[in-house]
Amino acid sequence: MSQNIKEKGGAMRIILLLLIATFVVMPLTNVEAQKAKTIDELAKMYDSSQCKSCHAEIYAQWEKSHHARPFLGVAGGMQLIPVVKSSAFKVKEPKEATLKTFPCFKCHLPQAVEHAEDSVAVELTEALFAFTADNATDDAKKEAKAKVAKLQITCLVCHNEKAITHKLVEGKPEKGVIYSTKNNDAHPGGKVKKSVIMSQAIFCGQCHGTGPNFEFDYPVQCATLYGSYQHNYLSKGGFQTCQECHMKKVNGKADHLIGPNFDDKAQTGDFLSKNIHLDVETLGYQWLRKAGDLRPMVVVNTKITQDAGHRIPDG
Ligand code: HEC
Ligand code: HEC
Ligand code: HEC
Ligand code: HEC
Ligand code: HEC
Repeated sequence: MSQNIKEKGGAMRIILLLLIATFVVMPLTNVEAQKAKTIDELAKMYDSSQCKSCHAEIYAQWEKSHHARPFLGVAGGMQLIPVVKSSAFKVKEPKEATLKTFPCFKCHLPQAVEHAEDSVAVELTEALFAFTADNATDDAKKEAKAKVAKLQITCLVCHNEKAITHKLVEGKPEKGVIYSTKNNDAHPGGKVKKSVIMSQAIFCGQCHGTGPNFEFDYPVQCATLYGSYQHNYLSKGGFQTCQECHMKKVNGKADHLIGPNFDDKAQTGDFLSKNIHLDVETLGYQWLRKAGDLRPMVVVNTKITQDAGHRIPDG
């Protein structure tokens, strides 16, 4: 009898344990299942090529923008190589890499922070090592670069992942929803919901930085421009948003080139010459140093001013 109870108790305990295990493990595996294991899986999650068919002009602007090449910057440079090769985050072998190896993801690839597994960091590091290998052929380098180029700040990174800042009140961005400046239930490309911040400077400020990022074990500082916008522009009475200056409408739609595009020297020069002013005042006179010794002199006062909403250059 007592044996029987014990057995029953044991069976119950196993059932209970199983139940607890399913409750604890199920949601975890669900979350895990949503995470990308490879660069291709991550790229697919945020793939925005479907937007191209209806938003061809915006898509073409974006493709030329720095947001479409967040790890290749100016002139296709492989800017993450120093991180894994010589920085405090360096690794001896690609397999040592984790998401923490790349604090850069916070702003250059924010979707990786919550939606990728460490294996994505390993695959990225493999590509960076392959590119720098002594015996790397041109083809191998091209392949490595093509892999890095798949990691982009796509339409959905801005219009979903980064569209909500005050998550405690508004919740996380919903899967499958496109966030914009207003609601649009009739959007033919999927549900569009209003994001409160889409037209505000804070939207860009999430990535364009305020100073050192102290949350990392080894703080890094990259972009600081949002800090300069707040302290050197708003504080002096400036009131335009980043969007008003950088996304002026082209053919009635917000410009997604979001210039300057540093690979286009003519466009960058044009933007700068419109916004940087050099005022010069001169006075010529002759200085009578001593009798019979007249020396020509000139006073030149120069003043450089600029119309940007922050320091330039900034970074
Ligand atoms: C089948 C066509 C179609 C597809 C696909 C599509 N859109 Fe649209 N979208 C439209 C039309 C039409 C409008 C309304 C007119 C306009 O603003 O161009 C619109 C408007 C928008 C707006 C502005 C919404 C508003 O009313 O303020 C955003 C943002 C947007 N689309 C984002 C996207 C993104 C991001 C994708 C890809 C994930 C996408 N769209 C895919 C057709 C499409
Ligand atoms: C998800 C993060 C993110 C958001 C949101 C974002 N940016 Fe960027 N932006 C970047 C990164 C990263 C780069 C640099 C990419 C590179 O070249 O390495 C960049 C590049 C730029 C550049 C090109 C100049 C340069 O130094 O490369 C401009 C201009 C710019 N962003 C303006 C904006 C504006 C305006 C907004 C808001 C409408 C905005 N960005 C929103 C991350 C972001
Ligand atoms: C760096 C962030 C960023 C990226 C990347 C981005 N957008 Fe936007 N998009 C914005 C912001 C911010 C606005 C609101 C601009 C404003 O307030 O004037 C906007 C507005 C729009 C609008 C409404 C335009 C209008 O003036 O009516 C459409 C449509 C749109 N985006 C589509 C896209 C598509 C398609 C892509 C990808 C090819 C894309 N966006 C990529 C930030 C981004
Ligand atoms: C009053 C207009 C104005 C506002 C507001 C403004 N910008 Fe700019 N921005 C400019 C001009 C002008 C330049 C200089 C053009 C150039 O460098 O070619 C510039 C340059 C930049 C650059 C290139 C930086 C560099 O070092 O050359 C980035 C990135 C940028 N802005 C992002 C932003 C972001 C993000 C915001 C909002 C927090 C913002 N801007 C607000 C006008 C503005
Ligand atoms: C706080 C957000 C943030 C972090 C963290 C960050 N970056 Fe950046 N980075 C940006 C933005 C935004 C830009 C472009 C705008 C600018 O230069 O003001 C940029 C520009 C760059 C550029 C210049 C590219 C160009 O087109 O001009 C390089 C190189 C760079 N980052 C490398 C890194 C590396 C490597 C890391 C990690 C160790 C990192 N960044 C971490 C936001 C960040």
